[in-house]
Amino acid sequence: MVHKGTKELMTDRLMLRRFVIDDAETMFINWANDPEVTKFLSWEPHGNIEITKSLLQSWVKEYENLNYYNWAVVYDGQLIGSIGLLSMKDEVGEAEAGYCISKAYWGKGIMAEALAAVINYSFDEVGFNRIIAKHNVQNPNSGKVMKKCGMKYLETKYTPLTLKSDKIVLCDFYEIRNPNRTKGA
Ligand SMILES: CC(C)(COP(=O)(O)OP(=O)(O)OC[C@H]1O[C@@H](n2cnc3c(N)ncnc32)[C@H](O)[C@@H]1OP(=O)(O)O)[C@@H](O)C(=O)NCCC(=O)NCCS
Repeated sequence: MVHKGTKELMTDRLMLRRFVIDDAETMFINWANDPEVTKFLSWEPHGNIEITKSLLQSWVKEYENLNYYNWAVVYDGQLIGSIGLLSMKDEVGEAEAGYCISKAYWGKGIMAEALAAVINYSFDEVGFNRIIAKHNVQNPNSGKVMKKCGMKYLETKYTPLTLKSDKIVLCDFYEIRNPNRTKGA
């Protein structure tokens, strides 16, 4: 596996690109401050745009690292969401996908298109062995996205939500393995 960082990816309808500081207002309005979007995520709505700005500053700095994968999802010229890879385990070539988009764009199959592009990139270009994803059992729409991308159900178990430290939630876990790699690292 050779890390290549957050490279621009194109799909039929989407551009996946790096975030820039100037995305703050759109990100804040479109999803970061929407409690319906963050309901099942590990973080709380931002509350004010300064939180979004400072997060973007840290993300932009992180792009210097080739093992940092965090894309802005652009549809029809609009920044509408994010998708990234986290919980990287280099020794076994694994990472976890996480994503969200603005409520106004739910139900158009957009996130499955973005996730498929990220999976293809992580397998074909970076050489990851396996991508996993999890969702709160009360958020089955996210599981539908995983299934649309060919991910297979693994198990259901309680897991902590990192930034909502008091919360331990029941999640369904999914995986997809790189067909061009053998088992293991
Ligand atoms: C989960 C999420 C990423 C799905 O993205 P999406 O691009 O809307 O996904 P899809 O269009 O493939 O829709 C998935 C399912 O959501 C449901 N759905 C579609 N439109 C909807 C709407 N307007 N409102 C509620 N649910 C809707 C449908 O059941 C759909 O399944 P179907 O295509 O088989 O009918 C998106 O809803 C989201 O960002 N939610 C908030 C953040 C989040 O939960 N992230 C995942 C954490 S694990």
